[in-house]
Amino acid sequence: MSHQKKSNRFYITTPIYYVNDIPHIGHAYTTIAADIVARYNRLRGRDVFFLTGTDEHGQKVEKAAKDKGRSAKEHADLMVDNFKKSWSALSISNDAFIRTTDQEHKKCVMDLLQQLYDKGEIEKRSYCGMYCTPCERFWTEKDITDANCPDCGRPVDKIEEENYFFLMSKYQQRLIDHVEQNPAYVLPETRRNEVLGFLKARPLGDLCISRPKSRLAWGITLPFDDKYTTYVWFDALVNYYSATKYLAPSVRDDWWPADHHLIGKDILTTHSVYWSTMLMALGLPLPRNIFAHGWWTISGSKMSKSLGNVIDPNDMAAKYSADAFRYFLFREVTFGIDGDFSEDALIRRINTDLANDLGNLLSRTLTMAEKYFDGVISKPKPYAGNSFADECSAQLGHIFNETENINWSHLKLHSILENIWNIVGAANNHIARTEPWKLAKNDTDALKAVIFDLWNALRVTAVSIYPFMPSASEAIWKQIGLKSLVDETAQAGDDIFQWDWMPSYDIKIAKGEQLFPRIEKEEKAAKQTLKKEMPKMNEPAADNLIGIEDFAKVQLKVGVVMSAERVEKSEKLIKMQVDTGEQRQIVAGIGKAYTPEELVGKKIVVLANLKPAKLMGVESQGMLLAATDSEGILSVLTLDRDLKQGAGIR
Ligand code: ME8
Repeated sequence: MSHQKKSNRFYITTPIYYVNDIPHIGHAYTTIAADIVARYNRLRGRDVFFLTGTDEHGQKVEKAAKDKGRSAKEHADLMVDNFKKSWSALSISNDAFIRTTDQEHKKCVMDLLQQLYDKGEIEKRSYCGMYCTPCERFWTEKDITDANCPDCGRPVDKIEEENYFFLMSKYQQRLIDHVEQNPAYVLPETRRNEVLGFLKARPLGDLCISRPKSRLAWGITLPFDDKYTTYVWFDALVNYYSATKYLAPSVRDDWWPADHHLIGKDILTTHSVYWSTMLMALGLPLPRNIFAHGWWTISGSKMSKSLGNVIDPNDMAAKYSADAFRYFLFREVTFGIDGDFSEDALIRRINTDLANDLGNLLSRTLTMAEKYFDGVISKPKPYAGNSFADECSAQLGHIFNETENINWSHLKLHSILENIWNIVGAANNHIARTEPWKLAKNDTDALKAVIFDLWNALRVTAVSIYPFMPSASEAIWKQIGLKSLVDETAQAGDDIFQWDWMPSYDIKIAKGEQLFPRIEKEEKAAKQTLKKEMPKMNEPAADNLIGIEDFAKVQLKVGVVMSAERVEKSEKLIKMQVDTGEQRQIVAGIGKAYTPEELVGKKIVVLANLKPAKLMGVESQGMLLAATDSEGILSVLTLDRDLKQGAGIR
């Protein structure tokens, strides 16, 4: 069989989730990630196949159904709806939804099993092993300590029976070679190292791919022995391939291999080892990439029903909008590493990044465009460009130039959002620096250029956030007087990602509703936390108290970070040029919590009358204020209204 997938076809998958449970934030995370990447690729004009679905066979589902007094199929039918509803509430644009109980899928699994059996890749053996029922997995005696499963810690049973084995062990070296020769096969890098470490540490075993029907009836019967059911993982992994044969947008075309399998780190071995070797044995190409992201905890704890801390993504979308929730998940934590979810952190992000940085930029720009030019936007002629335009173009290059960077191919979703917010920050800074309200008095040409640049920054921001926040993106597009982002991108192609693109029609802005209203709960929540913490706080000793005259000696000022860079040979120090009404250099130990780029444009609080001091040989003329909590999380103090630099703080 030859596989000739066309280069403009893009195929991305999520894990298929077990229907023993309702979807939670963890499932939402992987699915939203896949949606972001799918939407981005559609925007680039590629034919996209984005697949998600449910894993419906096996012991877990059989048991969950039994507990509820339903047949396994009835249970699956009911549970599938929960996933479909959640995905719709989260603006997931999957092209298909696979269920492993689909007849076409079952037939494909049986065909592949038969092929492997005929090729001698599957063998019947008598087997004695330690079996963990919840994990549906055999362990050898060596793996087991205290008669418990090394993965979940629950008791294992000793089982002796005849079973069918896929001869996985013979592919060990080929798999090592493949992972080594294809650096992007398993990402991020740490997971790749994990896989290589695992593969090199000891001989790979063969994989038991059957369960006697007496023990597990709910599944696909082995085509060559009807006394056995197919192991649920063999059945589940095949979904990625079977779907291309009956669910892809045009099933007569080749969609295999997948470009990305997005998964959580919990199922890295099943994908990188079982699935890869199954494909090798079948003579099918391997996927281009398996990306295993990190794990979400909730306010520091593992998510679990018994702790009652399971986050329902539907609630988050209903309370804060799907867009805001989507943004938070990918801005707060680098895609790949573990993260901690808290509603307070989500609210903080909404209020600062969305309401303050982006929302205010939109409303201020549109208000000025209405006030000064009756809402009409036109490109100044001649348009000479300027350093702000250059900065935005540079950021656009990081976001959209696929030949020069690996942001999208390596799913550096966090960096892409940083790049976008650099544009937003630079635009807010541009307002502060050019002071359009002053230009309005005496320099209409300069004012027109500033408003055009700000409008254009909003335009490129709207395109760039589309994969992450599709509704907000379209709403901005409309408010800035454009027609349809998706249609116009389809017509204009890559030009629309450039600073220079302009539509061919006249533009009149249509200021609409505030996009991201501030969530006031933050203050309430913060006050509640304070109250809770109050009793624990010690009263300050009388001699620790200061008088107002002491405080009067402290001169605090609002400053804008104009530029920032790391101090050479220091992990922590960042050197910034700050405008506090006068230009000054400030060096601060915040380099582990912030990148220089994200500091630029921030309005910060500066202790202005501190004696200059040298840090690693670099002079600091003052100090910025930052808070650190008991977990060591650092936050630079910023303002929640847009005051002018130099404003005094008391
Ligand atoms: O494993 N943080 O299904 P599953 C981040 N059916 N992601 C999480 C998470 C968390 N706390 N909890 C779950 C299965 N996930 C199999 C897959 S694929 C052929 C078969 C996400 O319902 C993450 O993507 O247990 C993880 O890999 C997946 O849900 C596990 O879903």
